[in-house]
Amino acid sequence: MLLNKIPLLIKASLIISLPLITSPATASEKTIAELVDAVNGTPDTVSRDAGKKVKLRNHAKGFCTSGVFKPNPAINDTLTIPFLNQAEIDIIARFSLGGTNAHATDKTAGRFMSLKIDGDKESLNFVTSNAEVFFASNLDDFFTFQTKVKQGPEGKQWLIDNKPHAKAFFDYVKQLTPTASYANNRYFGVNSFLFTSKDGQSIPGRWIFEPVEGVIGASTTQLAKLSDDFLQDELTNRVENKPAKWDLFIQLAEAEDKINDPTIVWPQSRQRLLVGQVIINGSNDSANATQDCAKGIFNPLLLPKGIAPSNDPILNARTPAYIESFIRRN
Ligand code: HEM
Repeated sequence: MLLNKIPLLIKASLIISLPLITSPATASEKTIAELVDAVNGTPDTVSRDAGKKVKLRNHAKGFCTSGVFKPNPAINDTLTIPFLNQAEIDIIARFSLGGTNAHATDKTAGRFMSLKIDGDKESLNFVTSNAEVFFASNLDDFFTFQTKVKQGPEGKQWLIDNKPHAKAFFDYVKQLTPTASYANNRYFGVNSFLFTSKDGQSIPGRWIFEPVEGVIGASTTQLAKLSDDFLQDELTNRVENKPAKWDLFIQLAEAEDKINDPTIVWPQSRQRLLVGQVIINGSNDSANATQDCAKGIFNPLLLPKGIAPSNDPILNARTPAYIESFIRRN
């Protein structure tokens, strides 16, 4: 029985999310299965079955590592999130590229970071991208984007001509310089969450990870000297000498900011709260839980008390889609 192979946490999310897998997220929109087919490029039974055989998955090229999360004690003066009262919590991390190609070149600009932070009683996962802006604000546009980009230059041109959010995303990505290290990127949660303040208010905000070493793009000459597979070795070697660190902030929304639309970037001037620091040091890399990190899922809706999902339809489709993908690749 497949369910027996699924770790407990994932079983719990399965129970919450299974109805979404079989039915459309809203009456007019795509089903979760259709979204995963669009991501995987498997629109028919034959390609879907072939995909299952090779355990096709998005963000196929990546690796697992480990570290610790140190909450900023001062955050407890502003927010009521008991999870953040702990001094230090282990992290299992996965760094990846986008797409289903496990042999993609590292020389493109997209970089992704997923974190599992399992505290004493509760857990928090992050599933982030180095692009601050998303390409779709609803599931139909997500489906169209994924389908069209797989049609090559013509599909991309169609998106530029017909979908302003997709065009804005392409323009954003065009100005991103590939980095020589996963450590030299900002990472964004993109979707909004609701945080409980000290006085019990619900405050909308977004996760932003700022690299302590700064954002450093690679020069063309530097990139030319690198192979197509440098990112994993670079991070592994780097942390042997010095951990890779990010300060984790919540960017707070103001009254005029759109909460449920990840295609809208909020102004840089928005107030930020320092939540803590992510320290990737490889300390638990030999543990089975680290080595097997890609076998389970990272669940952006796995949240401790005091943090709730917003109503962003993109955010709320993610966990069911990850579970659908997990089931297909097992
Ligand atoms: C409707 C919206 C989305 C859908 C349908 C979707 C779909 C998927 C699927 C099917 C997977 C593979 C899951 C697995 O087999 O474990 C995946 C992984 C991933 N997605 Fe999404 N995604 C969505 C939005 C986003 C957004 C907004 C971000 C970034 C902010 C993101 C970042 C990632 C990352 C980093 C992974 C790899 C996780 C890992 O390291 O295992 N996705 N996504």
